[in-house]
Amino acid sequence: MERIVIKGGFPLSGTITIGGAKNSAVALIPAALLADGVCTIKNVPNITDRDALFEIIRLLNCDIKQNDKTIEIDSTKLENVPISEALSVKLRASYYFMGVLLGKYKHVEIYFPGGCNIGTRPIDIHLKGFKALGAKVTKSKHKYTISAEELHGANINLAFASVGATINIMFAAVRAKGTTIINNAAKEVEIINVADFLNKMGAKITGAGTEMITIEGVDHLNGAEIEVIPDRIEAGTYILMGALMGKDLKVEGIVPEHNEALFEKLTEMNVDYKIEGNSVILNKRDDLKPTNVTTEVYPGFPTDLGQPMSVLLTQAKGTSIMEETIWENRIGHYPYLQKMGAKIKLDGLKATIKGKSKLIGTDINATDLRGGAALILAGLIAEGTTSIYDIDYILRGYENIINKLSNVGAKISLEEI
Ligand code: UD1
Repeated sequence: MERIVIKGGFPLSGTITIGGAKNSAVALIPAALLADGVCTIKNVPNITDRDALFEIIRLLNCDIKQNDKTIEIDSTKLENVPISEALSVKLRASYYFMGVLLGKYKHVEIYFPGGCNIGTRPIDIHLKGFKALGAKVTKSKHKYTISAEELHGANINLAFASVGATINIMFAAVRAKGTTIINNAAKEVEIINVADFLNKMGAKITGAGTEMITIEGVDHLNGAEIEVIPDRIEAGTYILMGALMGKDLKVEGIVPEHNEALFEKLTEMNVDYKIEGNSVILNKRDDLKPTNVTTEVYPGFPTDLGQPMSVLLTQAKGTSIMEETIWENRIGHYPYLQKMGAKIKLDGLKATIKGKSKLIGTDINATDLRGGAALILAGLIAEGTTSIYDIDYILRGYENIINKLSNVGAKISLEEI
């Protein structure tokens, strides 16, 4: 087991390059199995969620070739065997094999997915979508068997604009007979990346990125190539670090429009940032203003940046509010920020944060991926040494985070315990 140790108070200078989006990659990798042929995916981030997907793909007898960040998946010998619980629970995105295998083989056996403990994380909207396409879902304990004689197009209204359900229904619908319309679809940019990949394979999808997606089913999908878009959440995390500790810190390889909601809040807070093409340059300022942030579906303020943002709010002078609205348990990091000296009052999912607080390094635990990232932010600004335990959560979604931060001057290391 390892822990992350940070000596706080050192400025961050130099360049951090953003990798491929975790939430795109974890959908694009299973999507490759829909093709009858070889798919190439470029700019795949080196995260442990990727490795967990590889394990499932190998179980299904598909071949993976990897050359740095480019992977090739050959699914020509795919065997549609049940996916064990041990593999399903390794990550949330294992649920994408439901849509993919149902679409291609009209049958899938898989267990309830895993993922961070940020809420109950039901999959009822996914299953309702599959049923609308003609599938029968049976559940025995945690195992789902989803089968159909034939999938047919349908008009599906999502009860909530769920990212996972939107993508999963697209996966099944690309091989259904007839046209499927998804209403109240999620609009996250990762969905456009996935739809582009499927269209390159020969799918007929329009409207991705809007609240109505239309999918005309096709009989066959061929191998194709796609590049994973830059990770707007990884970018946002480092941007927030730059706001706290930057000394001409450059975060490069971003798509600024994907982070508009974040930049709007940074402007309100008086953060010193300058966008230059696909980069942003940040400098620490001592006169940050408080603000109120509510997480929303895209293009609103992303729930995945709410926890890192809360650390910036501890450094603004005055009272800020950070309210989470998507996940019912995305507050696990607050007790640790309090332990470090932050003045935070929690009322359900609403945190009232009084700044500016001096944070002091101590022993703390990551409780989930983005909460863990928030604790790294806290460690970077704290006085003294911060040790973060349960860091597997963090490594699931941030590639080479220790190196990326060390390279710009952070005193951060991984230590065996
Ligand atoms: C994805 C992202 C995650 C991000 C989230 C919201 C991936 C792998 N993960 O998760 O980082 O935080 O979008 O932007 O892409 N819900 C239901 N029933 C369902 C599905 C969802 O009630 O069948 C609810 C959830 O409990 C949650 C909300 O809808 O309250 C959002 O979930 P969803 O958009 O599906 O998130 P994920 O796709 O799992």
